[in-house]
Amino acid sequence: MIIAVDGPTASGKGTISKALAHHFGLPHLDTGLLYRAVGRQVALNGGNPDNPRDALKGTEFADLLLEDDILRSEGSGSLASRVSIHPEVRQALFERQRNFATQDGGAVLDGRDIGTVIAPEAEVKLFITASVDARAQRRHAEMIERGVESGLQEIADDLRRRDQRDIGRKDAPLIAAPDALVLDTSTLGKDAAIAAAIAAVEQAM
Ligand code: C5P
Repeated sequence: MIIAVDGPTASGKGTISKALAHHFGLPHLDTGLLYRAVGRQVALNGGNPDNPRDALKGTEFADLLLEDDILRSEGSGSLASRVSIHPEVRQALFERQRNFATQDGGAVLDGRDIGTVIAPEAEVKLFITASVDARAQRRHAEMIERGVESGLQEIADDLRRRDQRDIGRKDAPLIAAPDALVLDTSTLGKDAAIAAAIAAVEQAM
């Protein structure tokens, strides 16, 4: 069983995907980390993330360190959103994601284009969304917890910019697959959002 979870940054899709993977005993891939690793590699190379050739070179990054705080930082997220515009970068990361999705026994993948491009045949597709305000507040609380100072307004502006880039790009834009179940988590707490996602998967099985 493939479970595809797509949606914008800070919608809760990461938390939900992890919980689904745990609940159904499936491996999980956070595909945003791949784009973040590319963005960071471009920066390490001294390249320009908006230049397709520099961005493609960033796909030769070393292994992913999944618990890497730098990779999860806002700076890496912003770089990721810039390199992910280039079709050649998306192409270079395709096979890795596709192999993960089609492994024996199934998998949970979360990202922007899992249900539309990486695994259109997924048995379950969820599109997790939430208002910019709700997402900015969550991100703000997360950052305070990590001891990082940031302004709410600044975070909301960055989320809007990233949404615009993700929704507006030509190749694999952020959009719900026609057969995806849309789950708006704006007014849901973490446990309620997870319970709703588990119920949706069980219904689709
Ligand atoms: O999900 P996360 O915030 O880690 O993703 C960082 C950026 O990587 C996103 O803003 C998006 O531009 C890009 N991305 C993508 N396709 C994916 C996952 C992430 O374009 N499947």
